[in-house]
Amino acid sequence: MTLLEVRDLSVQLQTKTGFATAVDRLSFTVNEGEILGIAGESGSGKTMTALTLLGLLPQHAKVSGSAKFNGQELIGLSSKEWQKFRGAQIAMVFQDPMTSLHPMLSIKAQMTEHMVTHLGISQQQALVDAEELLADVRIPDPKKALNSYAGQFSGGMRQRICIAMALACKPKLLLADEPSTALDVTVQAGILTLLNRLRKEHQLSIIFITHDLGVLSSITNKLLVLYAGREAESGSTSTILQLPRHPYTQGLLDSLPQPDSNEKLLKSIAGFPPELGKQPIGCAFAERCKFAAATCSGDELLPTYLADSHKFICAVDPFAGLSINQVRP
Ligand SMILES: Nc1ncnc2c1ncn2[C@@H]1O[C@H](COP(=O)(O)OP(=O)(O)OP(=O)(O)O)[C@@H](O)[C@H]1O
Ligand code: SF4
Ligand SMILES: [Mg+2]
Repeated sequence: MTLLEVRDLSVQLQTKTGFATAVDRLSFTVNEGEILGIAGESGSGKTMTALTLLGLLPQHAKVSGSAKFNGQELIGLSSKEWQKFRGAQIAMVFQDPMTSLHPMLSIKAQMTEHMVTHLGISQQQALVDAEELLADVRIPDPKKALNSYAGQFSGGMRQRICIAMALACKPKLLLADEPSTALDVTVQAGILTLLNRLRKEHQLSIIFITHDLGVLSSITNKLLVLYAGREAESGSTSTILQLPRHPYTQGLLDSLPQPDSNEKLLKSIAGFPPELGKQPIGCAFAERCKFAAATCSGDELLPTYLADSHKFICAVDPFAGLSINQVRP
């Protein structure tokens, strides 16, 4: 069943030269118990998309389009109405676990306050539940952890605590914004396994945001690849990772480390995404794309729809008809 349905979502942010589009007419859905991965380079609008779904955009941001959560429209909610959803039904885990935790408040104080307010349970019950949640995210000695402070934990442990805190009010949707990027590879793998287990056990839906398509391959059911605030490609994770049809997705995949490659230097996509407010009308990737042709710029590009909800937006479609071995040798 569809939990979140986003249609034509756009976000405009105030810049020195006026309003600029950071999220450009995005549409996607998240079903119950599903993990959607959102990928793209820095500045592609991933965090702004997530913040829109929590009602936490910068004050002057303009939002249009629709985001229905369990059938209820989120766009246009008042601050008071947001309180019903934020933390309680939709929760977020941020990239840096140190800045998400208050250094001067005990873990107990940070975890139980929201539980008492949102779930209407007693402080005593909140403590019991908090201890259970910390055990659930594999924090050793949860009782002791509740009386400790953020600075007493390693980065990986802090992120586990943040995940436990995000789950404290039993949300249906978890927004995980690069939750493992600041951690080393082994700890990162542990966080991914943890999220996948929690998804199953808590019937959670997750939007997992990262710039690393390699991370997404292990846990997501479907992918949305963003470039300069716009959708480049979307569809099931396996289809996109095997046969990407957008040159930008192909570039992101090429820049992943290849375990059996002799090359010491990672490949990267040459150039940089356009600055906010300077996205062209045609393909925003044109300046960096080796397949760019006259048809790529000028006009609004139309999407191509393939089987299995696979969709991409490219005027040239240079990988059409190629096999897996030809596209990903
Ligand atoms: N408060 C703000 N005011 C104006 N522009 C902003 C603000 N916050 C972010 N931006 C701009 O909005 C665009 C989208 O930013 P966003 O944070 O969503 O990118 P991102 O994909 O999450 O990148 P990263 O991978 O670096 O986290 C960027 O160009 C960014 O510079
Ligand atoms: S539309 Fe043109 S420039 Fe854009 S990705 Fe496709 S081929 Fe490259
Ligand atoms: Mg971000």
